[in-house]
Amino acid sequence: MFRLFGYDEAMNQQEMKILTGKGAVDALVSRGMKLGLGTGSTALQAVNHIGRLIQEGKLTDIRAVPTSLQTLIACEEWGIPVYTLNSKEILGRLDLTIDGADEIDGDHYCVKGGGGALLPEKITAYASAAYAIVADETKLVKHLGQAFPVPVEIIPEARIPVMQAVERLGGVPRLREAVRKAGPVVTDHGNLLLDVRFLKPVDPVEMEQELNRIPGVVENGFFTKLRPMIFIAHGDGVLEMRK
Ligand code: 5RP
Repeated sequence: MFRLFGYDEAMNQQEMKILTGKGAVDALVSRGMKLGLGTGSTALQAVNHIGRLIQEGKLTDIRAVPTSLQTLIACEEWGIPVYTLNSKEILGRLDLTIDGADEIDGDHYCVKGGGGALLPEKITAYASAAYAIVADETKLVKHLGQAFPVPVEIIPEARIPVMQAVERLGGVPRLREAVRKAGPVVTDHGNLLLDVRFLKPVDPVEMEQELNRIPGVVENGFFTKLRPMIFIAHGDGVLEMRK
């Protein structure tokens, strides 16, 4: 565990998001890097900082792969050059991905997908030589999937059989409903999302595999196969880095 920075005054959650997003970029990002850029309000702070550094001429030759339309739009607004994992400038490999998380446990396992982008986020993370999660201290938990439901991306046609199979695994699935649009959330890849609450603590390593074995599940929000660096912003203004 390393402590990187300290501030004198108590921070609100938005300030903690800015602290961790900026801190991870300052610690890890340098000229010429191929970057995976995550989704959500915390990852966006890292994107904003990268954009600002590029605009100020302090960071050059960045090639970015955004993990959602939200992040793509942010990159376009900042003028951050964007590619896909298939672009010849990227060739399927990234130096680093910076992303947020909904929950993080003591093993650095995460739940992700609150922003509905877990599929591109997992693909991008697996294609990266280094992986960093940026979060504020409210995301730290003892057991994953208890307070924050685990998102599961599914093929629309498989909704009912997948929900039944999830129930057999001890989960309580709920179809994610859109806000200001009637009907369900449709992901950037045309799929639906189930938010699954587990009434009892589950083994996230096993459950990640079990959920993905259900026909019709595209991917789920347990992230247990990689061990990301974690940048945690605390309310007292300390940015902690856990390796
Ligand atoms: C999006 C994600 C986000 O990283 C996660 O939901 C955290 O978002 P925020 O930083 O807004 O709390 O996994 O799919």
